[in-house]
Amino acid sequence: MQLIVNGKSVHVKTDGAKPLLSVLRDELGLRGTRFGCGTEQCGACMVLIDGEPAFSCARELASLAGKAVTTVEGLTQNGAPHPLQQAFVEEQAGQCGYCLTGIVMGAAALLARNPSPTEAEIRSELDTHLCRCGAYDRILRAIRRASEMIGQGAGKRGG
Ligand code: FES
Ligand code: FES
Repeated sequence: MQLIVNGKSVHVKTDGAKPLLSVLRDELGLRGTRFGCGTEQCGACMVLIDGEPAFSCARELASLAGKAVTTVEGLTQNGAPHPLQQAFVEEQAGQCGYCLTGIVMGAAALLARNPSPTEAEIRSELDTHLCRCGAYDRILRAIRRASEMIGQGAGKRGG
């Protein structure tokens, strides 16, 4: 079947019952998306499907024909990091880092629909994600920082 991954059309010949996460990591070599719980509880596997945040660990490939999937690798454009990627590095917003790609994807969807979220809106987005290291304060700072960067014109996409 055909799907669009990070802006490119890809043909995947696998069993439609396979989870999207396995296809991304094992067949397409996109290892930024992580396996955590496998039961849609932790957020480590979050990607965007048609721009909306979605868990990929239990999402069957067969449900995705013609859909556009964005992974953390797809946030970087023309070699430039997304403001969230830059802010997470600048704030050192993580400890082990395992949860971070899922959180960055959820935050990317949040900032795309609302570039200036309130503290409560950011916390509500983070409710979907489990950070076992408890790095939430740094993560909050990074999302706020990315929001400010976007407000100053960073991360504008061409085309
Ligand atoms: S691995 Fe998908 S939500 Fe935990
Ligand atoms: S930084 Fe380790 S799980 Fe979040």
